[in-house]
Amino acid sequence: MESDVIVIGAGAAGMMCAAQAGRRGRRVLLLEHSAKLGEKIRISGGGRCNFTNLHCNAVNFLSQNPDFCRSALARYTPRHFIALVERYRIAWHEKKLGQLFCDGPSQQIIAMLKVECDETGVDWRMPCKVLAITRDTSAGEPAYVVRTDAGEHRSRSLVIATGGLSVPKIGATPFGYRVAEQFGLPVVAPRPGLVPLSFDPQTLSQFGELAGVAVDAEVACNGGRFRENLLFTHRGLSGPTILQISSYWRGGDWIDIDLLPDRDAAALLSAAHSSRALPATLFAEWLPKRLAQRWCEVNDLARPLNQLTAKAVRAIAEGLQRWRVQPSGTLGYNKAEVTLGGVDTTSLSSKTMEAKAVPGLYFVGEVVDVTGHLGGFNFQWAWASGHAAGQAV
Ligand code: FDA
Repeated sequence: MESDVIVIGAGAAGMMCAAQAGRRGRRVLLLEHSAKLGEKIRISGGGRCNFTNLHCNAVNFLSQNPDFCRSALARYTPRHFIALVERYRIAWHEKKLGQLFCDGPSQQIIAMLKVECDETGVDWRMPCKVLAITRDTSAGEPAYVVRTDAGEHRSRSLVIATGGLSVPKIGATPFGYRVAEQFGLPVVAPRPGLVPLSFDPQTLSQFGELAGVAVDAEVACNGGRFRENLLFTHRGLSGPTILQISSYWRGGDWIDIDLLPDRDAAALLSAAHSSRALPATLFAEWLPKRLAQRWCEVNDLARPLNQLTAKAVRAIAEGLQRWRVQPSGTLGYNKAEVTLGGVDTTSLSSKTMEAKAVPGLYFVGEVVDVTGHLGGFNFQWAWASGHAAGQAV
């Protein structure tokens, strides 16, 4: 079968790209290997899809080329996606920090994208397994030949929208990286991002019993700095602030945690130095009680404050505001919301997402080395990059 465009992967970026190309009158074929489309959209945002962020900017993305995302993001903004959502009368709300969620289930976003594709005549094959891709240059005009378990398809443009490696049980595969390699494009080594971090056995024996305790904290690592909730878990640390910093963390790195952001622990403790209060009693005014107690047990702080030297008090304050933790690892792709790394942006056009050295081959969404912070940025990249390619194919 012959089409103008074949899109592989019916996720966020693939459906957006297919609909945009269809709107331009292109004959589009969309291939998806799962039995369901948009599975990640369905499970996103706790089932309510955090579909964009009002404060979307290049600084919210990690990439070896931090400027690559600018062009696509500027041409398809959160306002464009909000206008689309409103056209479909999908109710939404801002939760916090510019994060926009559906009031109802995420399924509404999937249904909207499906209608967008159907209205523009996008053809589907699903579930459909891609067996091989070749580029045929024999007839002058090069064509992509995609051999699948449902027959052979040819097109002038081929868009790879197969996402990253996160959550393999709902269909994630390294397919996109393999296609890039097949056509000689470099791939930045993928690794899990927005993922909980684990403690080594000794640290876990100290803090594992705090599982479920959350505290407002500021964390920093490798130039990243975030302030939100930190959650103790049975395996280590999680919560929004840890998910954010996990994208900056690499094996062996330390992260700095301020358990009392906005407070001057040294001044507070020095003001209380003459008191007979136990540190745990004082800390419980600022921290969850269980954390205050456990912190004092682990750090051997059993004596009243007035029995401590000024130096010891300063060290206690420093410990609370600069708790240095060396995670033993991440919880991996099963628990990661995104995959860092991907198709190297140096080999792609930032305007169209087309491979510079392979005309007609495009990569969109998470398969590209552009990864957003937590908070709706990854979907905005999927929409924007899908839109950019959809305008060009
Ligand atoms: P996506 O993964 O959406 O789609 C890829 C598609 O390709 C899938 O349908 C897959 O089955 C298909 N595919 C893979 N291999 C294939 C092959 N070999 N052949 C054919 N098809 C193939 N982001 C955000 O902004 N807000 C949020 O609320 C959340 N929440 C969230 C929760 C959880 C639990 C996860 C795991 C992730 C999020 N994300 C998120 C991240 C967001 O879901 C992700 O960045 C986008 O879905 C990426 O869109 P893509 O279209 O690039 O990939």
